[in-house]
Amino acid sequence: MQMKNDLLLRVIKGEAVERTPVWLMRQAGRILPEYRAVRASVRGFIELAQTPELAAEVTIQPVDLLGVDAAIIFSDILVVPEAMGLPYEMVEKRGPWFPKTIGSAADLKKLRVADPQTDLHYVLEAIRLTKKGLNGRVPLIGFAGAPWTIFAYMVEGSGSKTFSKARAMLYQNPDLAHKLLDLITKTTIKYLQAQVGAGANLVQIFDSWAGILPPDQYRAFSLPYLERICEAVTEVPVTVFAKGAYFAMKDFSRMACATVGLDWNMDIGEVKQLVDGKKALQGNLDPAALYAPDETLVAQTRSMLTQFAGSRHIANLGHGVYPDTSPEKVKLFVQTVKEFEIAP
Ligand code: CP3
Repeated sequence: MQMKNDLLLRVIKGEAVERTPVWLMRQAGRILPEYRAVRASVRGFIELAQTPELAAEVTIQPVDLLGVDAAIIFSDILVVPEAMGLPYEMVEKRGPWFPKTIGSAADLKKLRVADPQTDLHYVLEAIRLTKKGLNGRVPLIGFAGAPWTIFAYMVEGSGSKTFSKARAMLYQNPDLAHKLLDLITKTTIKYLQAQVGAGANLVQIFDSWAGILPPDQYRAFSLPYLERICEAVTEVPVTVFAKGAYFAMKDFSRMACATVGLDWNMDIGEVKQLVDGKKALQGNLDPAALYAPDETLVAQTRSMLTQFAGSRHIANLGHGVYPDTSPEKVKLFVQTVKEFEIAP
């Protein structure tokens, strides 16, 4: 099917575009009252994510309501550990929590490489329904967590400021860590390939906890696994977003990914030099800039766009949009990108 708005895919390929495409990480979620209404009709986040009709509905909402140039499938990175045999709960106002964690070889034995067609069928079904609902309006982004970030939750058992249990394992039992990372990687490859089979037009890998590792450990425990995923997912472009991994930009420029995501701490000029035109770049407005008065938000957005000029750029925030952000500010951000003309 011919896509009506394929700006995002064209910019990644390096084709000429009329304007910069724009979407927001975490756009399908609590910023929208329409999302909160759907969410209130079920028991909780997990039920919503596991009900394909509702997941498709909240995936499409930001396309209708915010005017973004892509949809991202409504799900979570933590469906992967669950599919491998480690279930999670989403605790209201506190975030994810795993009743059991991985700390030993015996724990690891209880895990399996998931079969996405059965274990994650509800995500694949949501993708198929979303594609029907979008009817070619904009591309659909599939996603998964990076093995290191998934590992961090499976070992720690919840979010954490330090992830000290997860990081301790890297020093105390690196062999076990590599075995767990390998299992996660195998599952993630099958999962992303299945998302593409169901209709995802591109996929993004979230390495949200990249920035808590020193560079040498990031190179040992994250990059090789990301590389394996990028090399295995060949049918659609892959975006790698590694929050806090400014030290790995040169590595990403050589990876088999199409796009590199930047968080808001990263210097745009420096990253442009390091990546040297080899990848499309995505990002990176500070999510807190959406709390600013309108004029400031517009000026900040234009300044970001100006700094990215000359690169293949996808406008986004430097991390997920904060849940208490006003949808009006998001619309202003989107509109400012759409109206921006790069000086010749
Ligand atoms: O981007 C989108 O709009 C698609 C949906 C999406 C969600 N989670 C829905 C969600 C995506 C892409 C994610 C990714 C995700 N999940 C990441 C990587 C991106 C990042 O932010 O760094 C991480 C680390 C998670 C794990 C996770 N899920 C946490 C830590 C939390 C609790 C904190 C929070 O944001 O509430 C979640 C819950 C979650 N995932 C919600 C949503 C809409 C909120 C739950 C609710 O509605 O009750």
